[in-house]
Amino acid sequence: MKVTVVGAGAVGASCAEYIAIKNFASEVVILDIKENFAEGKAMDLMQTASLNGFDTKITGSTNDYSKTAGSDIAVITSGIPRKPGMTREELIGINAGIVKEVSSNLIKHSPDVTIIVVSNPMDTMTYLVHKTTGLPKNKIIGMGGALDSARFKYRLAEALEAPASDIDGMVIGGHSDTGMVPLTRLATRNSVPVSKFISEDRLNQVSEDTKVGGATLTKMLGTSAWYAPGAAVSGLVQAIACDQKKMFPCSALLEGEYGLDDLCIGVPVILGKDGIEKIVELELDDAEKSKLKESAEGVKKTNGLLEL
Ligand code: LAC
Repeated sequence: MKVTVVGAGAVGASCAEYIAIKNFASEVVILDIKENFAEGKAMDLMQTASLNGFDTKITGSTNDYSKTAGSDIAVITSGIPRKPGMTREELIGINAGIVKEVSSNLIKHSPDVTIIVVSNPMDTMTYLVHKTTGLPKNKIIGMGGALDSARFKYRLAEALEAPASDIDGMVIGGHSDTGMVPLTRLATRNSVPVSKFISEDRLNQVSEDTKVGGATLTKMLGTSAWYAPGAAVSGLVQAIACDQKKMFPCSALLEGEYGLDDLCIGVPVILGKDGIEKIVELELDDAEKSKLKESAEGVKKTNGLLEL
C-alpha cells in the first residue's frame, strides 16, 4: 500500500507520522515544493522508526511526481493555512490553483488513486477535484467531518467530565466556522444521550466551541492546527487501505442525498477499499435539516467563487 502526502507542512508531516506509527502502509512518499523540505521531514520521521516500531518506508521529494507513481491513496494538504482572524474561505484564491495542479499531477502518475483533500476551504477544494479530474466520485473524499467530530467529542468529554473514549458523536455539514452541524441530539456517552448528563445551555456551548475549534487553535498557535488534522486524515487513510468499512463524516459529492445536489459537504459515509462505498442518510429532525441546508448554501456560495 503506497500513500502519497502532498505538502510537508505541519499537517502533512503529522499525517505521515500517524500513518507510519499505525504501521499499515508499506510506503509513504511526502512531496513539497520547498527544496529538500520533504526529504528532511522524511529523514527525521525515518529516524523514529526504531523508536516507534514501524516498518513503513517514508521518503521525501522536492515536487517530483514520478516518485508518487502507483500510489493507492494521496492526501492533498498543499496550499496556505489560515492566519488568526481569517476564515477558511479566504484561502480560496491561492489554494484553488494549487489543488488543481497537484491533483492533475497525481493522476498522471497514479490514474487509480483515491484522493483525500485537506486543503481549505476543504469542501470547495473537494468539489474542485471532482470537477477537474474526472476521477470516479467514490475516489474523492474531503477530510473535515472526522476532525470536527473529534473536536466535538473532546468538547463533550470536557463538559461531561468523561474520558473521550466514552463519547460518540458526529459533526456533519461544511467544514467552516458557521457551516458545521454538530449532531448533539445523537451524541451519546456509552449509548446514553449526552442530554442526560448536561444542560441544554451547556450542550449549546459545546456546539459553539466545536464550530470554532479550528479558529480557536489558529488564534493560540498563530497558524492552523496539525495534530488532530493529521490524526483524522490517518484514520481515513487506514479505513481505505485496510478496507475497514468504517463510518466517518466526510465531504462527499451529493447527488440528491439529503435533498442536496452538485456540491461536496460533510455527511456520514462508509470508507473501504473503494473509497466512499456508501453515503449514509440519517433521519434528521427539522432543525438539523434546516441547519444542513443553510450550511450547503454557504458551501455553494464559496463554490461559486471557483473559476471552473
Ligand atoms: C482545521 C483545519 C485543518 O480545522 O481546517 O484545523
